[in-house]
Amino acid sequence: MTSTQIRAGRFEPGEFRPRVRLAERQDLDELVRLERTCYRGVYAEHRWEREQFAYYVRNPKARIAVCRRGSQYCGYVTGVFSHRARSTTAALLSLAVAPPCRHRGIGAALLRWFEARSREEGCVSIDLEVAVVRRSARRLYERCGFEPIAIRADYYGPGDDAVRMRKTL
Ligand SMILES: CC(C)(COP(=O)(O)OP(=O)(O)OC[C@H]1O[C@@H](n2cnc3c(N)ncnc32)[C@H](O)[C@@H]1OP(=O)(O)O)[C@@H](O)C(=O)NCCC(=O)NCCS
Repeated sequence: MTSTQIRAGRFEPGEFRPRVRLAERQDLDELVRLERTCYRGVYAEHRWEREQFAYYVRNPKARIAVCRRGSQYCGYVTGVFSHRARSTTAALLSLAVAPPCRHRGIGAALLRWFEARSREEGCVSIDLEVAVVRRSARRLYERCGFEPIAIRADYYGPGDDAVRMRKTL
């Protein structure tokens, strides 16, 4: 499949703008580096390793996009599509933006990219889980049209609940 590029984020005129495109094998090392930067502390144990990124890069039912600003990797999004008897749904598995690149609309741009791919796949909705404590991520998802549909107790560990959210496309 050819890679798709869209412009990302809110930047001043003339600034070097980031772009979102499909990830490839040569992005794996940088994806692992990004993951280590984005998930620290208690969430370090939930980080994806190289093998997981590699699996999703080659899986035809999955998509990973990276956001780059020149040679700098700013963030990524990944998800899978599931075709059931009656409908096709997408599951957003992970979204992360490097700390120095946050609050500039890159997270929202990565979400838009994944939504566009989900529509192309004929999906009728996108589901995701996000830790209750991740307020910035939850606000981003709500702003982008996701609604909370359930609480998953102890999803990330004892006392660390997740909210299941859904967006109908
Ligand atoms: C959640 C996450 C992906 C958001 O990425 P981001 O690039 O900062 O997202 P956005 O910039 O689109 O939106 C984040 C905030 O920046 C604000 N913002 C966006 N563009 C802005 C701009 N040009 N100027 C000022 N603020 C801006 C948004 O309004 C939003 O504010 P809020 O948090 O107060 O609601 C990022 O914080 C992250 O990687 N966190 C750790 C991993 C994680 O929690 N992942 C989600 C779990 S699956």
